[in-house]
Amino acid sequence: MKTSVYMTWSKQHAAARYNLANSGILGCNLSDLALTPDDLVLNGPNTEGYPPLREAIATRYGVTASMVTIAPGTSMANTLVMATLLSPGDEVLFEQPTYECMLASADFLGARFVRFSRSFANGHAVDADEVAAKITPRTKLIILTSPHNPSGVAVDPRTMARIGELAAAGGAHVMVDEVYRDILTSEQQPCVATMGGPFITTNSLTKCYGLSGLRCGWILCSPALTEKMRRANDLFGVASAMPADSIAVAAFRQLDQLMARTRSMLTPNAALVRQFLRDHADLLDCVVPANSMCVFPRLRHLADSEPLHDKLRALETSIVPGKFFENPQHFRLGFAVKNADVTQGLRNVSSVLRSLH
Ligand SMILES: Cc1ncc(COP(=O)(O)O)c(C=O)c1O
Repeated sequence: MKTSVYMTWSKQHAAARYNLANSGILGCNLSDLALTPDDLVLNGPNTEGYPPLREAIATRYGVTASMVTIAPGTSMANTLVMATLLSPGDEVLFEQPTYECMLASADFLGARFVRFSRSFANGHAVDADEVAAKITPRTKLIILTSPHNPSGVAVDPRTMARIGELAAAGGAHVMVDEVYRDILTSEQQPCVATMGGPFITTNSLTKCYGLSGLRCGWILCSPALTEKMRRANDLFGVASAMPADSIAVAAFRQLDQLMARTRSMLTPNAALVRQFLRDHADLLDCVVPANSMCVFPRLRHLADSEPLHDKLRALETSIVPGKFFENPQHFRLGFAVKNADVTQGLRNVSSVLRSLH
């Protein structure tokens, strides 16, 4: 059976008292949402996605409701896009490193991968010329995360537009997983689906808003392609859970407050991580994005982050070893949990790092 090695690890081993493996904001409690009994709907018209939810998503992201497919989380949104567009043997261009679950879904569907790099040496940026060189007549889909998992680096708008042109010229689509996008501030770009043409956005309320439990995800793309996505979904989720969708509608009314919660937790933690990286510049190199919830440091003198991970377990601390991102010399460090936990977690990373040298 084909599985996602990262997801298996994440479900079984990522949890820890000082959890720096988490890439999203700490989950909300019910009290973080101002809900009334009327917000909860048990049954209703959700065969093509609960209309008020499609409207709320469309309004927030600047598209029409006819461009919205509801899916259980970005995870299923990504799989649904691939299932709609890929047949066995089709080529899919994937950034490297990338979120392994997406690779696993494409592999499950029998697609062939071609990789383009988002290397540390290039600041985890995308080189559109490299993408151009790798597109072939068999390329059906180009897949990116922006901001990038694991580095947190966003693709710059000109590069994104060029990739769209390349894809359109070759009859391919571009799927951009934007699950971390809303954390961007000054450099915030419109979501790619508003650029039309070959672009497809996937996203959810998980990472930026702490509402993973709602499993509220979506796909944004042209109305014609949306119709295909919805028909593909008839083979998977069919329709989503109305109580979750109706709470998601209430959450959309409060997204600005939820983002304020996210930023109030994140801002001091980001300062701690920057200081930590400065204090450990002899041991770590890192590209630090202006806004992100995680970074992807590289060990300067060690080839593998696995021993760091293993020793941290004894201190009830977790990071994500770089092997899950095909870069063992790196590790992913998340910092969107409680300030006290980030503080202690970084202390533990510091002491283990020093002990390994
Ligand atoms: C790039 C990316 N996409 C999707 C997900 C999962 O999102 P969701 O909880 O909405 O399925 C993750 C989780 O780590 C992720 O990093």
